[in-house]
Amino acid sequence: MPATVLVGCQWGDEGKGKIIDLLTPRYDWVVRYQGGPNAGHTVRDEHGNTYIFHAFPSGLRYPHVKNAIGNGVADLSEMREEMKTLSSRGIKITPDNLCISTNVHVIMSHHIERDKLRSAKKIGTTERGIGPAYEDKAARTGIKFGDLYFLGYPGVRSEVLDRLERNGYENPNEVLSQLEKDFEQFKPFVRDTVEDLNDALKRRDRVLCEGAQGTFLDVDMGTYPFVTSSNTTAGGAMTGLGISPRYVKEVIGLVKAYTTRVGNGPFPTEFKLETGERYRKVGVEVGTTTGRPRRCGALDIPMLRRSAEINGLTSIALTKLDVLDQEKGIPVCTRYFLDGAMLDRMPSHYSQLEHCIPQFEILTGWQEKTDNIRKIADLPENAKKYVKKIEKELHTPVFVVGVGSRRQEIAVR
Ligand code: IMP
Ligand code: MG
Repeated sequence: MPATVLVGCQWGDEGKGKIIDLLTPRYDWVVRYQGGPNAGHTVRDEHGNTYIFHAFPSGLRYPHVKNAIGNGVADLSEMREEMKTLSSRGIKITPDNLCISTNVHVIMSHHIERDKLRSAKKIGTTERGIGPAYEDKAARTGIKFGDLYFLGYPGVRSEVLDRLERNGYENPNEVLSQLEKDFEQFKPFVRDTVEDLNDALKRRDRVLCEGAQGTFLDVDMGTYPFVTSSNTTAGGAMTGLGISPRYVKEVIGLVKAYTTRVGNGPFPTEFKLETGERYRKVGVEVGTTTGRPRRCGALDIPMLRRSAEINGLTSIALTKLDVLDQEKGIPVCTRYFLDGAMLDRMPSHYSQLEHCIPQFEILTGWQEKTDNIRKIADLPENAKKYVKKIEKELHTPVFVVGVGSRRQEIAVR
């Protein structure tokens, strides 16, 4: 089973950090294929210590695991802070356990400025410069880690200075020397990760591809323009790492037991009144990266059906079921009503989504605590029904259910 791709099936914040941490002991590699400092993967260990990963793979917590930051990722300056924080928490990061692709794009100050000025307000971005950095990537004016690594090769320096100038910097030399300084500490980590990963897969190393954000934040598949600027879906792992789909034997979908969204954009099952407030409070739904309150809503099956197809899910990790423990009735959207027709799957254009009227089924709650349950079979009857409903609607087995934020608070088959 060489490669597994793990993807968020909603709008991110499905609790990927915890599940990745749980699965990591079975893998030789944990690799990131897109996104950057906009992501926030929270891991709480068995002692209740919390670790937050942004651009770095969360496999770094395990000494036996090799980690890679693939070409689909964008970052640099925030990685310096993150490296410092993780190191101070006792996490060892060395060229022996981490490699960074030559093709990672650098997020520069003008990206952050542009992000703050423009899309931030409308889209509600994390203001980390993500969109503008990927814009420059597509416009072929971006700077890659490899550009800084190979600066000594003939012609590279002048090419980089030219791109900086085209990005509007008045003093490209000054900007470049700052970038060189920022980059210095990462130099020993830079490698051709395409080669490393393909070699690893050939020798049958097990590789866990750690997706960030979620399916409907994908720049192609998501609720455009209310999306991030990378490919968050399973296909993004191929282009963001340079590995072949023939290595992928498993695609694990992360599904939160309800829906949340941080930032703007359509959200058909959003709770408008006190229910949303209650979910937010019980589920501690606050953005890991920005501290913004997350919008909360009911589980959205039409959305998940689309997600299951786009990603080709082979199994589901259902997270945060315990947040529903005290609910009496739990609304689940099973279809949308749009323009006189019933839809089973989420439509493709955001404007349609704004007009969809969700059709709810109310499932009976279980109204007891589940955080001490370790087997799916031992969940309260109505909780089991909730899990079964998801399996049946998505034709995909749920192999693990999160019942609390701590590492051990998990129920398995
Ligand atoms: P950006 O990725 O900062 O450009 O933000 C674009 C949209 O994606 C905004 O709605 C953000 O709130 C959302 N977003 C970006 N990263 C994450 C994440 O890791 N979790 C949840 N939402 C995210
Ligand atoms: Mg997050």
